Amino acid sequence: MRRIAVLTSNIGTGSNLQALIDAATTGYNGQIVCVVSSKPDAKALERAKEADIPTEIFDYAEYRKKGQPRSRYEEDLARKLQRYSPDLIVLAGWMLVFSKTFLRYFPWRVINLHPGLIPDKQGEQFKLPDGSYADDFAGLSGENAIQAVLASGQTYAGSTVHVVTEQVDWGPIVERGVVKVEPGDTVESLYERLKEKEHEILVHSVKELCTEPTPA
Ligand code: GRF
Repeated sequence: MRRIAVLTSNIGTGSNLQALIDAATTGYNGQIVCVVSSKPDAKALERAKEADIPTEIFDYAEYRKKGQPRSRYEEDLARKLQRYSPDLIVLAGWMLVFSKTFLRYFPWRVINLHPGLIPDKQGEQFKLPDGSYADDFAGLSGENAIQAVLASGQTYAGSTVHVVTEQVDWGPIVERGVVKVEPGDTVESLYERLKEKEHEILVHSVKELCTEPTPA
């Protein structure tokens, strides 16, 4: 069984975590061994507790209050996670950008779910099913990203599962999902449909990655 750590915050409702928890019922070679939130009031923490998954709150605000640098936070978080020996770390609603201080502990083992369509090559744009192009909305999260889709007039909204690198919302693509923007869509209606797609691509990506040999 591949050991999965899910990192989250209070930006969403923990619905992607829930999709991963529910995926256990269909059986795959993975198991969520901990859920870490950067905020104490994350709905995802409740969902994890409900499923008897160990939880940790790792609040960066506490470090800031003590004047401790971000690198210390990343170092401490990496060490805490190491205790769970994760094979895969899934960022689902995680809001902090990692530097190599954190990433060097888990090379190529951290994936992120971003509510934008990341292209294969930097500087390019992802081509939508109707031939038009999508923005990657790098740096935007949650409802802000969906608001940006509506404001841009883009014909589809989409999300990407990608390997995390030091660059914000950029890295090798694992999977993308798109949903058509319908006339009269609001942030809520569009995000609701996109979330359903996110659940599909995240669960599928994690299942696939859990079939790969454990990295050395
Ligand atoms: C998702 O939309 C994901 O793309 C973004 O944060 C959101 C988390 O949603 N990074 P939820 O908490 O899983 O519902």
